[in-house]
Amino acid sequence: MIVDKQEFEVNGMSYTIRSANLADAEELSALRVQIDGETENMDREPGEAFIDVPGFERIIQTDAESPRNLFLVAVVHNRIVGFSRCEGVHLKRFAHKVEFGVCVCKEFWGYGIGKNLLKQSIEWADANGIKKMTLSVVETNEKAIELYKRLGFEIEGMLKNDRILADGNYYSAIIMGRFHL
Ligand SMILES: CC(C)(COP(=O)(O)OP(=O)(O)OC[C@H]1O[C@@H](n2cnc3c(N)ncnc32)[C@H](O)[C@@H]1OP(=O)(O)O)[C@@H](O)C(=O)NCCC(=O)NCCS
Repeated sequence: MIVDKQEFEVNGMSYTIRSANLADAEELSALRVQIDGETENMDREPGEAFIDVPGFERIIQTDAESPRNLFLVAVVHNRIVGFSRCEGVHLKRFAHKVEFGVCVCKEFWGYGIGKNLLKQSIEWADANGIKKMTLSVVETNEKAIELYKRLGFEIEGMLKNDRILADGNYYSAIIMGRFHL
């Protein structure tokens, strides 16, 4: 779906959150690789599972047309610095829920961008009959876990030894859900 854009000013920085459009595809393709290289909190090492420009164009188009998908970007001075997606499933038995994912480029952490991408997504979900938002987050990502809890997510479970990080150790993933009944 497409939602109206919103303006924010946090800690002296102005930014816009709006629905992604096809012209964003090139920037998003590069930004995703950049953020994958800035943190181990995403699923991929930089360059893995690369999505090229036509790939992003297809995702943006699908998300714009699907009543259960939402693709938001955060823009500072015409530059995309973060994005989030809610992705639904076509199967009727899962029609009530969407999976949420978010990332913000490191230089712009701490300006409420992650929080506001999530808030906008929750507002959209609640207004569009979505009963459950789900996500998974690596156990050490305390900042994200606290943010999700504060905005109504609860811990549903844990996937043990879900991934191996650069230190060679296994880490678990926390599964969280937010219910709107
Ligand atoms: C997790 C992430 C999305 C948060 O986005 P952000 O824009 O940096 O975070 P925000 O500025 O919205 O802050 C969210 C909360 O985190 C806390 N926080 C922010 N910066 C912090 C810091 N440097 N140290 C500790 N807590 C911090 C604050 O409590 C804030 O909530 P508040 O404003 O209500 O007090 C972002 O850091 C990110 O993309 N990280 C890498 C990818 C990732 O982890 N994605 C999530 C995977 S599940």
